[in-house]
Amino acid sequence: MRVGVLTGGGDCPGLNAVIRAIVRKGVQEYGYEFTGFRDGWHGPLEGDTVPLDIPAVRGILPRGGTILGSSRTNPLKAENGVRRVKENLAKYEVDALVAIGGEDTLGVATALSDEYGVPCVGVPKTIDNDLAATDYTFGFDTAVNIATEAIDRLHTTAESHMRVLVVEVMGRHAGWIALHSGLAGGANAILIPEQRFDLDQVCAWVESRFKIRYAPIVVVAEGAMPKDGDMVLKDQSLDSFGHVRLSGVGEWLAKEIERRTGKEARTTVLGHVQRGGTPSAFDRWLATRFGLHAIDAVRDQDWGTMVALRGTEIVRVPLRDATTQLKTVDPSLYTEAGVFFG
Ligand code: F6P
Repeated sequence: MRVGVLTGGGDCPGLNAVIRAIVRKGVQEYGYEFTGFRDGWHGPLEGDTVPLDIPAVRGILPRGGTILGSSRTNPLKAENGVRRVKENLAKYEVDALVAIGGEDTLGVATALSDEYGVPCVGVPKTIDNDLAATDYTFGFDTAVNIATEAIDRLHTTAESHMRVLVVEVMGRHAGWIALHSGLAGGANAILIPEQRFDLDQVCAWVESRFKIRYAPIVVVAEGAMPKDGDMVLKDQSLDSFGHVRLSGVGEWLAKEIERRTGKEARTTVLGHVQRGGTPSAFDRWLATRFGLHAIDAVRDQDWGTMVALRGTEIVRVPLRDATTQLKTVDPSLYTEAGVFFG
């Protein structure tokens, strides 16, 4: 048995830990051979491979990024994409594919598996934690820790200068990073994509914070939107899954807060810092267990499934369940956090 492995979409701390676990268990316990596909779906589409064996995965557990590279290539949009993927799998004698990715990468795996009979198993990855059917994705915990540390640091400098500090975190459709890091870091306002925000309310929270002689920290997810207004975009370009580039809401918000309250307001955009560097212990643990269970799914020929965390158990769910709907922040969780706003 030869198993292909690829990592697609935005990179994420813990990808290497998954790859290592898949290869270690696959070689040691099942005698499998592996082929690494470079840069997500670009690899099988173009036949771009890299050797993947135990020496190749030595020392990568704590390393951020992915030794296989990543991209947002969509083979379903490429000319003869499915045929080319199938031909390359045949050419490299790959019997099964493990796709490690988020909504888009696993959406392709779902289609290839369910509609075109390509034997695929999925592993859920994204710092955004917005994949349905799993309690957590790896990468999220690391991103939340990085954002929380930043918020902690911003509190002290905000208070020295009595300024508003706006922290823009990632989160295109889901505010999980904003909510968790905002709660952990004691933010005075948390703005998420799921709930349009009222600028007057945000300014009222800012002012009430100054009244008790503290400087407000506002955490905003990049996909958050004002009640009457649109998403702030970086530019108009689209990737091959049709996503726009975000970022800019933090800058816009700080300007509006300053204009309306007369208080100096600055922005820190955390951006890719949230995705880079070494994974947290939790993410190494989760990624490793996902890898071990993914190769078991391959052994069982349980195609079209994804490994998922339910409580502390790793289970298998249909890939389709994970990719048809996003897991967004429940309104009750957001309401719960509201006690700390202002
Ligand atoms: O999906 C993960 C993510 O980090 C999102 O939070 C963010 O919107 C997006 O990727 C950014 O992607 P890129 O680095 O390709 O611009």
